[in-house]
Amino acid sequence: MELDFSGLGFQRDEVAVVTGAGNGIGRATALMLARAGVTVAAWDLDEEGLEALSKEIDGMGGHAHLESGDLADQRFVDHAWQQAAQIGEPVRYLVNNAGPAATTDMTVSEGIQVAIGSYAAVAEGFVATSGQAAASMTFTASIAGTFYVGPTPDWYPTAKAGIAGLMRHLAVKHRGHPRSNGVAPAAIRTQRTADPPATFAEKIARRPLGRIGEPEEVAALICFLLSPAASFINGVLVPVDGAATWTD
Ligand SMILES: NC(=O)c1ccc[n+]([C@@H]2O[C@H](COP(=O)([O-])OP(=O)(O)OC[C@H]3O[C@@H](n4cnc5c(N)ncnc54)[C@H](O)[C@@H]3O)[C@@H](O)[C@H]2O)c1
Repeated sequence: MELDFSGLGFQRDEVAVVTGAGNGIGRATALMLARAGVTVAAWDLDEEGLEALSKEIDGMGGHAHLESGDLADQRFVDHAWQQAAQIGEPVRYLVNNAGPAATTDMTVSEGIQVAIGSYAAVAEGFVATSGQAAASMTFTASIAGTFYVGPTPDWYPTAKAGIAGLMRHLAVKHRGHPRSNGVAPAAIRTQRTADPPATFAEKIARRPLGRIGEPEEVAALICFLLSPAASFINGVLVPVDGAATWTD
């Protein structure tokens, strides 16, 4: 599915940072933004994933700025923002999306530190680096901890609820410079859902749309919320779940 975002108000050569752009939802978002003429700065732990994304963007006649490292490490976040400041155009958009898989074995304190801490550090760097040029940012949360309670480790819904809280707080604090919104996906077809437990297919079949989502179906919402077309939308968390939360 290739969507046309030319009507959403992105200007050619505006810059967006996309975290977790090496795979899944971040990758799909980076490609949609690149197709809309936006220059993408792609940040991820996965160097190979970034290289593959970069090739695809080159093939469209675009160019991606790659930074590989761990966003849970403040030194990498500082370094990545220093590099982004050299791009030549200010970063207008931030897709705060990279986070550990729900299956990661962590305590609640570790989960808060890694998952919320990295989003907070990246958002803080965005505002500090871009100032009034910062137009909007999105936070990838989850239905877990926000619209749904399910069988995940304790840290996951806790961190995702915290991300939604941080997103709303920043929406008010920054008074629209930048706007701040969130997406709350249900199960999406990425490497994280590639090897599901036996009961998963049954659960998905009971859901209203009877399937999991595609990364592009989350990316489309992220691109809309980021764009000038969503100029009066600030501080909302939108489920992308095919109404799963009404039936689970
Ligand atoms: N796939 C789902 O079912 C689902 C559901 C709800 C929410 N989410 C959320 O969507 C976001 C994207 O997940 P996805 O499904 O696309 O996963 P994915 O594994 O396909 O992609 C995530 C990317 O983020 C990168 N990443 C993770 N931690 C990082 C770190 N500390 N520093 C730098 N890069 C890091 C990974 O290397 C990977 O390339 C996550 O925040 C996840 O919690 C996913």
